[in-house]
Amino acid sequence: MKGAYTNPRFFLAMTVMLAMAAALVQAQGTRVGFYARTCPRAESIVRSAVQSRFRSNPNIAPGLLRMHFHDCFVQGCDASVLIDGPNTEKTAPPNRLLRGYEVIDDAKTQLEAACPGVVSCADILALAARDSVFLTRGINWAVPTGRRDGRVSLASDTTILPGFRESIDSQKQKFAAFGLNTQDLVALVGGHTIGTSACQLFSYRLYNFTNGGPDPTINSAFVPQLQALCPQNGDGSRRIDLDTGSGNRFDTSFFANLRNGRGILESDQKLWTDPSTRTFVQRFLGERGSRPLNFNVEFARSMVKMSNIGVKTGTNGEIRRICSAIN
Ligand code: HEM
Repeated sequence: MKGAYTNPRFFLAMTVMLAMAAALVQAQGTRVGFYARTCPRAESIVRSAVQSRFRSNPNIAPGLLRMHFHDCFVQGCDASVLIDGPNTEKTAPPNRLLRGYEVIDDAKTQLEAACPGVVSCADILALAARDSVFLTRGINWAVPTGRRDGRVSLASDTTILPGFRESIDSQKQKFAAFGLNTQDLVALVGGHTIGTSACQLFSYRLYNFTNGGPDPTINSAFVPQLQALCPQNGDGSRRIDLDTGSGNRFDTSFFANLRNGRGILESDQKLWTDPSTRTFVQRFLGERGSRPLNFNVEFARSMVKMSNIGVKTGTNGEIRRICSAIN
């Protein structure tokens, strides 16, 4: 056996085997430019579908970003969130307010005309989330593609999604279960720099939170402003920017708001209250004394991680022809 290690043929065979193993690993994952040969216009079709809807309704941008997150955490990024039917993910409480389904349908219709049966709904959603960030003036990044679609979509699986009252320990655990660390958590929740929340999901913080008063972590000057926007027993479906003053722009002001006690969701404000997450908020803000981190760059990096959760590639999964239906 000793002779084998010095035999050039043995080395050649080993090298070929290792190269094959590496190719196999790559084939099982996603990669940038997956559709370059099979559907070269795939990414530009998705981008133009998002752009044209965005022009008439900018709310689709935050809608699509959140939809991709909710897709990835439940059964992996496999477009299971798009499936219609009784007791599917879509019908579950955390998904009831999702928006932007029509953008995915637009893109899919155009893609089926250009390259039938090639581009997955899961990839359309991942690309549309990236395009949404770019349209709201965040950065552009390369999205590895090659996801395939799943068929399992159960409302009961959505309890895995973090809730708006969730403690930081629990938020961290839920993200860690998918290989996302504390920095990823803070960066990704930074997605709340765009979009809105319904009053019904946070107005409990404004009235009778503790001893008849509001949540003490809300800046006292901010409380009456929020109470005016979300009156007690008022319309719970009214929507308020998650990043007050900059809800349409992908920037770091969401983090500055947390520092100033101006977070809207209880789970968001806790990112500042808890020292382990506060450090990252401070770093994204480039606070003096902290080691600065570029929010846009880190957000993109964490998104690539999130977008790879539980993906089906190669011979797993399928390419759905209609994103909302399993045939
Ligand atoms: C601890 C984790 C998280 C919690 C508890 C949480 C919770 C929420 C809640 C309660 C809303 C308001 C929903 C509504 O009223 O329609 C919301 C909105 C939103 N979330 Fe999250 N979220 C979390 C993480 C994330 C992540 C990781 C992303 C994306 C990377 C994200 C993106 C968004 C966006 C863009 C909106 C605005 C949606 C719109 O305007 O339609 N969230 N989130």
